[in-house]
Amino acid sequence: MRDEVTREVERIVLVLDVNGERRELLVPVHKTLLEVLREDMQLTGTKHGCELGECGTCTVLVDGKPELSCLVLPIQIQGRAVMTVEGMARGSELHPLQESFAELGAAQCGYCTPGILLSARSLLEANARPSRDEIREALAGNLCRCTGYAKILDAVEMAAERMR
Ligand code: FES
Ligand code: FES
Repeated sequence: MRDEVTREVERIVLVLDVNGERRELLVPVHKTLLEVLREDMQLTGTKHGCELGECGTCTVLVDGKPELSCLVLPIQIQGRAVMTVEGMARGSELHPLQESFAELGAAQCGYCTPGILLSARSLLEANARPSRDEIREALAGNLCRCTGYAKILDAVEMAAERMR
């Protein structure tokens, strides 16, 4: 008879502020932040793309700065603040970026949109009047297969103007 080795999965108690709410949960230590958000917190707005740090669909904000959640182990950000796309609107009021993306058709299939919105939000919080090149640079890590990017850049400019 074949010997079977049963390995216990090591788990950690993870404490994070997620979209302004304190969350505490027991998660397998090997899971990425992307997996924890989607599978353990049901925050499926954060999209699963390449898992290699190349596409940007999994972008979330950690303490206000964009991070690729497929490359982050939750233990690395214990106690810190995470924002996902679910945290952008206030109740029924959309964030100006969400409004401008919808108005200008800057989201087509929408798969890249959550990551792009969060990268753009981080930019606009640091720089209220970014140039077109600065917007391009801030979004350089977020790939979009549908839009050709022009409408995305227009939408970020429109939101920046409305937020000033
Ligand atoms: S899924 Fe994280 S960068 Fe592609
Ligand atoms: S809208 Fe489809 S990938 Fe960007």
